[in-house]
Amino acid sequence: MSEKLWDGRFSEKTDQSVEAFTSSIDVDRRLYRHDIEGSIAHCKMLAQASIITEDEALSLIQGLSTIRREIERGQFSFDDSLEDIHMHIEARLAQENTKTAQKLHTARSRNDQVALDTRMYLRDAVILILKQLAGFRQVIVALSEKHLDVVMPGYTHLQRAQPVLLSHHLMAYFEMFTRDAQRFSDGLNRINVNPLGSAALAGTPYPIDREATSQLLNFPKTSNNSIDAVSDRDFIIEFLSSASICMIHFSRFSEELILWSSSEFSFIDLPDSFTTGSSIMPQKKNPDVPELVRGKTGRVFGNLIALLTIMKSLPLAYNRDMQEDKEPLFDTVDTLNACIDIYTKMIPKLKINKKRMLEATTKGFLNATDMADYLVTKGLPFRQAHACVGKTVSYALDKNKELHELSLGEFKTFSSIVEADIFDALTTQKMINQRKSFGGTATANVNAAILKAKTALEKEKKKLEKYKPI
Ligand code: ARG
Repeated sequence: MSEKLWDGRFSEKTDQSVEAFTSSIDVDRRLYRHDIEGSIAHCKMLAQASIITEDEALSLIQGLSTIRREIERGQFSFDDSLEDIHMHIEARLAQENTKTAQKLHTARSRNDQVALDTRMYLRDAVILILKQLAGFRQVIVALSEKHLDVVMPGYTHLQRAQPVLLSHHLMAYFEMFTRDAQRFSDGLNRINVNPLGSAALAGTPYPIDREATSQLLNFPKTSNNSIDAVSDRDFIIEFLSSASICMIHFSRFSEELILWSSSEFSFIDLPDSFTTGSSIMPQKKNPDVPELVRGKTGRVFGNLIALLTIMKSLPLAYNRDMQEDKEPLFDTVDTLNACIDIYTKMIPKLKINKKRMLEATTKGFLNATDMADYLVTKGLPFRQAHACVGKTVSYALDKNKELHELSLGEFKTFSSIVEADIFDALTTQKMINQRKSFGGTATANVNAAILKAKTALEKEKKKLEKYKPI
């Protein structure tokens, strides 16, 4: 058992079970790069403010860089008795250069340190997610562009409603994932705040320059209130909530892919390389990837609820409960990374069953609204037109026919204003291209939305390239 950095006032050694229980090293070792980067900036600032000498800062920075290499090469030993990554790095530093190493923690505490590390980690994670989401949205746009001529039934209540372009349906997901990206990106404004220098909770008597540390670490803002800075985990909750919304979108997409690939729909084929077989039923090809993405939504929601619950009654300022924030955070980042990645690889490989989708638009009275709209163009008020079409549909159902299969004579028994041009109005192509209202499914609209999305994505990707994670 190593000596603790804080055991001065203790007369008994910590019980081993307590060490194991309180240790977070298995989880927070992942923060090592950000912890070291933060400590290096802290050293530089301490030297600039003449709190330590230039030589001391240099030796600390060298020591920290060596530790980073040791961790990266797997030469660093981790031990529960040293609690967390912050203690591990400081203790290792002390093994080489005890006197100087002891100065590293001047004017800071683990409370502001852990808040700093988590913010630095999360901003890198968010930037990676934004890059991934841009790539994924590009894949959606490419698929939409490739299948611009595919018509499918649009649904409400999971009942066939009106024909839409498959691309229009896919571009709805583009919109959803774009909002997700915007939410993550907006959250960066609140992640990107430097808490270092708040110390334990009240600030520090040393003449530190917090703005200098913020600049060194690329933080556009420095936290205003030291108590808030060490107790705030809103930025993680906000990230988990954005992640949950993003997972809702993945889950809804997954659900549709699962339905569409079933024999009942047969709208799409999932690639063999992204499906699995059954150990008993030789004919099966199961949509495990979308199912797992849908299933993983549960853990991401759970992570959000976990942190909301952890934080809900905590008195100010730091409480050890807050150490429990990292597992849900890391798990969410990993889950999201994995889901975006696998979908970016799978979506371009979807096989679209164009014929089957088109056929589905010709059964189930998807042109009923269009018949009503047709009657309106001939002068009938919409409500009367609606009632007239209702009667026509009921008649057609009796005859086991679709509306477009009725004769002009049959139509005329319901409304004398129907002419031969009704048949053109009831074709799928006509129905699609009539819907020219902004945001509607007309081919020209969808094409314009695709072009706009492509330009926006190019711009977004260029902007994101500028960010270099630590
Ligand atoms: N491992 C701790 C955490 O993750 C670091 C902060 C510890 N601070 C303390 N006063 N014990 O929250």
